[in-house]
Amino acid sequence: MRIFSGIQPSGTPHLGNYLGAIKSWVESQDSGAFFCVVDLHSLTLDITPEDLRLQRLELSAALIASGLDPEVCTLFVQSHVPYHAQMNWLLECVASYGELTRMVAFKDKAARQEAQRASLLTYPVLMAADILLYDTNKVPVGDDQKQHLELTREIAERFNNRYGQTFTVPEFSKPPVAARVMDLQDPTRKMSKSVSSPLGKLDIFDSAADIEKKIKKAVTDTDGEMRYDWENKPGLANLLDVYSAFSSESPEQVAAKFTRYGDFKSELAALIIESLSPIQARYTDLMGDRAELENLMRKGAQKASVVSAAVYDRAATAMGLN
Ligand code: TYM
Repeated sequence: MRIFSGIQPSGTPHLGNYLGAIKSWVESQDSGAFFCVVDLHSLTLDITPEDLRLQRLELSAALIASGLDPEVCTLFVQSHVPYHAQMNWLLECVASYGELTRMVAFKDKAARQEAQRASLLTYPVLMAADILLYDTNKVPVGDDQKQHLELTREIAERFNNRYGQTFTVPEFSKPPVAARVMDLQDPTRKMSKSVSSPLGKLDIFDSAADIEKKIKKAVTDTDGEMRYDWENKPGLANLLDVYSAFSSESPEQVAAKFTRYGDFKSELAALIIESLSPIQARYTDLMGDRAELENLMRKGAQKASVVSAAVYDRAATAMGLN
């Protein structure tokens, strides 16, 4: 079973990134798993060179601190492996302009920005390249990436039909709960690095005091009834999902344990603090030796290059480039 997934080094990972993706990566890691810090994707937005360089390193440390073991899985930085950008071009010649303009993430981002980089439109093709380069069977991601995954499958099938069997068609995989963690201040919107207000998103490196404050102030409802009901009580349902993801209980079981929102919220804050504090401590250690961290990531890129070189060659040959 080959697993591949990626995360952008733009800003600190938040609870949505952790519960929607990183936690399941840690649980599924083995020698067939590839996890990528997708720095080329971050260039679709206007990030300073200094920020990109630093955030790439910080995210690598955050992933290892969360439990990814570079001795077990392959953890690497996208731009360290040249085949991603090369494969991107081959696939841009298979994807269509129309299908890219229909991507919800593109429409959202394009509406928020004035000067749009062309890469904002072609971004999902690079994501397809990332995935297809590793003969991936399964892609563990949050719910918001589902449409991009469907496009990847579409591109793989179209390529195979046009140029002969070349790519494995990957499956989308999301965690059973918390696949879409919502903004703590507006539970109708997903928690997002770029859009959520400081109180709306909880970063994995937030202090205990900040976590307590954000959970306490999280928007719920006024009927005061502890019940798991996404349609009528999205704020509470979101918090129950988060509790459930950090414990072994279902959201309904969690709801049944409490009678008052206040008690539930203080236990939830305590549970989050207890779960994140070992990650925060390991992170600080890892950032203390940046040279070693860089070294680990370079080794990961070497492992990833061996696999992706072969797949790139296969695709280039199928198209008539070799
Ligand atoms: P990114 O960097 O925005 O997010 C990384 C992962 O976090 C998940 N996620 C969430 N899950 C639950 N609730 C939320 N509120 C939430 N917000 C984010 C995302 O679903 C994702 O799994 N395009 C990708 C990065 C990428 C990639 C890939 C992923 C590039 N190439 C290849 C998989 C395979 C992205 O921008 O994720």
